[in-house]
Amino acid sequence: GELREWAGPTQEVVSPMFERRPDGSLAPRVIGSYPLLDEAEALKALDAAVRAYNFGRGEWPMLSVAERIAAVEKFTRLIVARKAEIVKLLLWEIGKSTVDSEKEFDRTVDYIHATINALKDLDRDSSRFTITEGIIGQIRRSPLGVVLCMGPFNYPLNETFCMLIPALIMGNTVLFKPPKHGTLLHFPLLAAFAEAFPKGVVNTVYGRGNAVVPALMASGKIDALGLIGSSRVADSLKKMHPKSNRLRAILGLDAKNVAIVMPDADLDVAVKESVLGSLSFNGQRCTALKLFMVHESIAEDFVQRFAAEINKLKPGMPWDAGVNITPLPEPQKPNYLAEVIADAQAQGARVMNEGGGTTAGPLVYPALLFPVKAGMKVWREEQFGPVVPVASFANVDKAIQYIIDSDHGQQVSIFGSESQEVADLIDQLVNQVSRVNINAQCQRGPDTFPFTGRKDSAEGTLSVYDALRSFSIRTVVATKQ
Ligand code: G3H
Repeated sequence: GELREWAGPTQEVVSPMFERRPDGSLAPRVIGSYPLLDEAEALKALDAAVRAYNFGRGEWPMLSVAERIAAVEKFTRLIVARKAEIVKLLLWEIGKSTVDSEKEFDRTVDYIHATINALKDLDRDSSRFTITEGIIGQIRRSPLGVVLCMGPFNYPLNETFCMLIPALIMGNTVLFKPPKHGTLLHFPLLAAFAEAFPKGVVNTVYGRGNAVVPALMASGKIDALGLIGSSRVADSLKKMHPKSNRLRAILGLDAKNVAIVMPDADLDVAVKESVLGSLSFNGQRCTALKLFMVHESIAEDFVQRFAAEINKLKPGMPWDAGVNITPLPEPQKPNYLAEVIADAQAQGARVMNEGGGTTAGPLVYPALLFPVKAGMKVWREEQFGPVVPVASFANVDKAIQYIIDSDHGQQVSIFGSESQEVADLIDQLVNQVSRVNINAQCQRGPDTFPFTGRKDSAEGTLSVYDALRSFSIRTVVATKQ
């Protein structure tokens, strides 16, 4: 909640954009470092958040909605003034193209403005009174307490703020741990936090997750956890809380979204959306299409067209104009993807596009694999990278059964014409996943749509409106007439 100098150990950040030596080899490029807090320091940040909340009697939770909105508006003005710096760090840390880094920033600012407007609506509702059975009730939205937010590396700014801003504006105090990749870009925000919010309201905990987060959770003082990441991490964090029934968890987790391509699909539309859906930001999106199930009558045609479009994608550095495929920030990912491809090939799949799966350091050229079958690693594992598996079906029940058997339940895409069969499919699949996209890729936006999932894919719901509800509790002031 206040700016502190750090003299302890630090972690160097290596950019995925390696430097090329004169002999052509690649050399790691260190672009900065961040503090490695220990448990004791993390607990000091927690104490600051607990004190600022002060059992709901702190300055921040007691402010009026209008006053909290004013603070968030001030914060937004401060970060907008630093857009260029934040976008540059986003690009250098996670390899997101200039265009997409700018989009991430702008989407975040739009999200904050939309949140403010949504809260004004909600506040108008809570100033209404209802009279029922002789009792005058005023329904309010009250904060939960101390919220720990942890965003993912693929949207380190946007998906941190989709939790942090709603949590804050509802009157909670917040701790947040920046993701492992996408940490430096939060530095320019620290001064803005300190200037816009009272002391202790926002506290940034730098460090390795396993060094700082267990102590926070084990303290029992975290009232809500907002995490976008893996279900494995979410499960272990929840177990660390001594009273997990008191912890509210709002989680966006793993997904293996399927695209079903029906025999009567418009293949131009299907292929265009499939390229976007599977390979935007190198496939590093929880919402990415991670398995294609195509009717056998059109599978060869679909795969040929898909491969032709992938061949047109431009690999390069994120600052290159028109670039589509960029270096991956997770150092172990190229090896993992190579394993996945080799495993599929050993079981009969072929790489259908030119140069698919070739690498240059952290840059992996996308691989379209066909025919993919049960038993291959890529059949069930969430590849979270530029590997695109395509399987075929004779009967659409095979695709439905795959989704029913899956541990995931986020979204699905269906490509097909307006037929009764598609209508039936939609009705079946809305009971399996949380969003069915018709002739369109899977995606989170528009940000006013509920963003959640079934099974291991989510807990609670995010969106401009839902996040305000998720990070608050409905309370009633009831007076007898
Ligand atoms: O990585 C998961 C994100 O929620 C994906 O968001 O569909 O807007 O790219 P997006």
